[in-house]
Amino acid sequence: MKVLMINGSPRANSNTRLALEEVGKTLKENGIDYEIANIGTKPVHGCIACGRCGELGRCVFDDDPCNRWAALLAESNALVVGTPTYYGQPNGALLALMQRLLYSQSHLAMHKPAAGIAICRRGGATAALQSLTMMFQLQHMPMVTSQYWNIVYGRAEGQAALDSEGMQTMRALGRNMAFLLKRIHLQEPVQYPESEPWEPMHFIR
Ligand SMILES: Cc1cc2nc3c(=O)[nH]c(=O)nc-3n(C[C@H](O)[C@H](O)[C@H](O)COP(=O)(O)O)c2cc1C
Repeated sequence: MKVLMINGSPRANSNTRLALEEVGKTLKENGIDYEIANIGTKPVHGCIACGRCGELGRCVFDDDPCNRWAALLAESNALVVGTPTYYGQPNGALLALMQRLLYSQSHLAMHKPAAGIAICRRGGATAALQSLTMMFQLQHMPMVTSQYWNIVYGRAEGQAALDSEGMQTMRALGRNMAFLLKRIHLQEPVQYPESEPWEPMHFIR
């Protein structure tokens, strides 16, 4: 089993990556593999609501990580998204990519356990975390929790390692993710719940 971890920080030695690695270390100790996909520093597109993903089965923009992440998500059993906190929110590039990834590939995310992680210097991480979890909540993704909100503190690169409670929270998250994944995959093939056909609001078709 494998967990895809998205690192939304553009910084090379980011605190977000440190937090993700702590989750990953714990996953490995519990026999579960992981891969970190970095957002990098190149420009990314926002969703232009063209609807072409419905025909193509992928996002129309191929020059940023969205479709690469989709391929990684396809071969993963769970998703963890880590974000730095920018003005009390996930950074804009990460939000743009996640919106396109989930809109174009909702079937790849469906029923896969998910967790968000937010890093901040001082404040706004709970709101950033809320933004991430809003995306998981309408993809049928069971959300994995920890002993505290999934928050780690740090400003300069590497400082997150000094937040011992934050790092402990990451390890607890990794253990809970491993526990849930093992429960879900106890029986193969997994019997996911059936979905009803979508019933859109009567006044918006
Ligand atoms: C544009 C920008 C906005 C930021 N806004 C906040 C904020 O609202 N609250 C906060 O506590 N830290 C804020 N920070 C600090 C970062 O969240 C902090 O440095 C964090 O460790 C960055 O994570 P990273 O190392 O993974 O990139 C901001 C940093 C930048 C560059």
